Amino acid sequence: MSSPLARPTTILLTGATSGIGAELLTRLLDAGHTVLAPARRAAHLPARAGLHPVTADLTDLPAIPTLAAGLLADHPALSILINAAAVQHARPLTDPATRPTDLIAEAALNLAAPALLTQALLAHLMRQPAGAILNLSSGLAIFPKEQGGLYSATKAGLSSFTTSLRWQAEASPLLVTEVLLPLVDTPMTAGRGRGKIPAATAAEAILTGIAARRTVIRVGAARALPLIRTLAPGLGARLLRGA
Ligand SMILES: NC(=O)c1ccc[n+]([C@@H]2O[C@H](COP(=O)([O-])OP(=O)(O)OC[C@H]3O[C@@H](n4cnc5c(N)ncnc54)[C@H](OP(=O)(O)O)[C@@H]3O)[C@@H](O)[C@H]2O)c1
Repeated sequence: MSSPLARPTTILLTGATSGIGAELLTRLLDAGHTVLAPARRAAHLPARAGLHPVTADLTDLPAIPTLAAGLLADHPALSILINAAAVQHARPLTDPATRPTDLIAEAALNLAAPALLTQALLAHLMRQPAGAILNLSSGLAIFPKEQGGLYSATKAGLSSFTTSLRWQAEASPLLVTEVLLPLVDTPMTAGRGRGKIPAATAAEAILTGIAARRTVIRVGAARALPLIRTLAPGLGARLLRGA
């Protein structure tokens, strides 16, 4: 089967306004792909050939099926969905700055929104000769962090969802890929963490992994996590608890 990015195609990319998503956006447009980019700040994206910004708040879950159906009707060549949008509230639950509405939005954006986008597009994507769905997960899906329990849980949930989805799609050519990222230098991680890799490096690794039709793309330090989970799970838990 050919790489989903072998020929110019149409891609729905969430999270394209910042961090890893922005780096993916630049590279996908440079390669001649058409990118549909739903985000709250979509209007601030620079005008570029092939880019279709769509102002959307993906925590508005009931609106997602209609949004996705409209994008598909306007762009029937759509063959790839990349779920990169997420938010992380890295604070103790007892911190008054952590409002219930923040937690609702975190769970909605990180887990329910990718599921709803997937559901709306799945039948179409399964019919494509080189379709793909990519979900950006995290090492925190394997070992959660102390101050970010809900974020870690959404990434573990997204990881589990991606495995189930791969089974549901296995009779079709659809590539279903989970991307396990280490700490990446983006606005999400501003002011915390050490040993971050640049967002550009993460984006390059993701695109290389798609080109190779990898079902799991582990980037940087995340490559060691399966072995650590098997051989030294206590060490893994200690390392990522304070991530
Ligand atoms: N950075 C890391 O260390 C790291 C590590 C592991 C995994 N990841 C994962 O990699 C992905 C990208 O992370 P990042 O660090 O690049 O994040 P980021 O720079 O903080 O960007 C987050 C993106 O999510 C979008 N977003 C936030 N709230 C939204 C909403 N309500 N509706 C629509 N879009 C919304 C933002 O767009 P608008 O604000 O324009 O809406 C933005 O484009 C995420 O899935 C993250 O969980 C990151």
